Amino acid sequence: MEDQRRIEPAGRVFKTGVKIPGDKSLSHRALVFASLAESESEITGLAPGLDVGTTATALGRLGMQRTGDRFAPAERLTEPGGPVDCGNSGTTMRLLAGSLAASPFRVTLTGDASLLSRPMGRLVAPLGALGLELVTQEDGTAPITTGRASLVGADINIDVASAQVRTAFELAAIQADGPSTIDSPPGYRDHTERWLEAFGLGTAGEGTKMRIAPGRIPGAHYDIPGDPSSAAYLWASAALVEGAHVVTPGISLNPGRVGFLTILEAMGATVHGEVTGSIHGDVVGTVSVTGGELQAVEVFGNTVAAAIDELPLVAVLAAYADGVTIVREASELRAKESDRIASTTGMIRALGGGAEPTEDGFAIIGTGSLDGGTVDAAGDHRIAMTAAVAATAADGPVTVRGASAANVSWPSFYETLEAVWSSQ
Ligand code: S3P
Repeated sequence: MEDQRRIEPAGRVFKTGVKIPGDKSLSHRALVFASLAESESEITGLAPGLDVGTTATALGRLGMQRTGDRFAPAERLTEPGGPVDCGNSGTTMRLLAGSLAASPFRVTLTGDASLLSRPMGRLVAPLGALGLELVTQEDGTAPITTGRASLVGADINIDVASAQVRTAFELAAIQADGPSTIDSPPGYRDHTERWLEAFGLGTAGEGTKMRIAPGRIPGAHYDIPGDPSSAAYLWASAALVEGAHVVTPGISLNPGRVGFLTILEAMGATVHGEVTGSIHGDVVGTVSVTGGELQAVEVFGNTVAAAIDELPLVAVLAAYADGVTIVREASELRAKESDRIASTTGMIRALGGGAEPTEDGFAIIGTGSLDGGTVDAAGDHRIAMTAAVAATAADGPVTVRGASAANVSWPSFYETLEAVWSSQ
């Protein structure tokens, strides 16, 4: 059967209380933390997509034992006897590069064609400062080889607001022989920093500085909240219909994840967020979004990192808005599962909208409508799901080619979106 899905325009009322699957970033981290812990951990609400399964499988190959929701660290790491497959998941590869830096053997990490084209060279200097000789391909891509380092404390400053690079450094640094510090531009998701601090292994310094103290992560219970980057598809869909309303409880509200809510509000949607709890110092809450008349915005600076995975959705909102929306200082988009500057502008054009790629972002000409049409997901889950959301208020259906790319992060996405549309 051909891998495509036709989505009819919605134009309906929305729903309260939509359960969003577990957060991907927190799920990867909980698994890696459990693999390094001094005793068993329990993880509930793990993200259902392929990416998180990839991390669990990789850690299983290295000796972590899973019984249902319980994860026991390997007593002794198992040599995998061949490359470890990180699939489509940059988070898996970057986090393992750090967590395995001190493993007693070398481990080669590989992945699918998309992952093999993404930048891994950015890990070399930070992990090198700790004493790891990380081997990449000549152009800085994977396969990469980690492990066998005697790690020493180091103080570093990185020039990209990457939570993955920070996390890789920090997971290696807790295994070093002395304290370390890391600093970077702001806006990144600081899940790892909050958990390390909760476990007594780190102290947040001034601004974005983090001090890491070597030590063991304790066994813990991680009850993973809903993924704001998944909820964002429903928030955006609601924002496209005046008066439409969606409520999502139990979502991670880490400040590095909620840039999209700030953008939605600036564009004219009504957004309410309420903190209802936390997971090891990381905030969780309920978010509701009500659609309104949309205006163009300019997105740049710290908001870019805090909304990086949602910028394709901003393009769809912008097409339905009044005026020209500019996203700039966002060249990181080129380093994602697809070149998201090219794939996002390609998607808007395929749906009959006006979009111009720029070197570090894009401009979208808001006309208040999209025709519908056929979008190639470019093997990228976020483009597939964003194109489906674009159908919400389109004049005709949207066909997503390569629709199954959504399985990477949210296997039941299309069913959830359509169920939300048909609810009263
Ligand atoms: C992630 C961080 C972001 C994000 C990715 C997940 C994480 O990447 O785009 O989807 O879990 O740390 P960068 O840290 O490379 O910006």
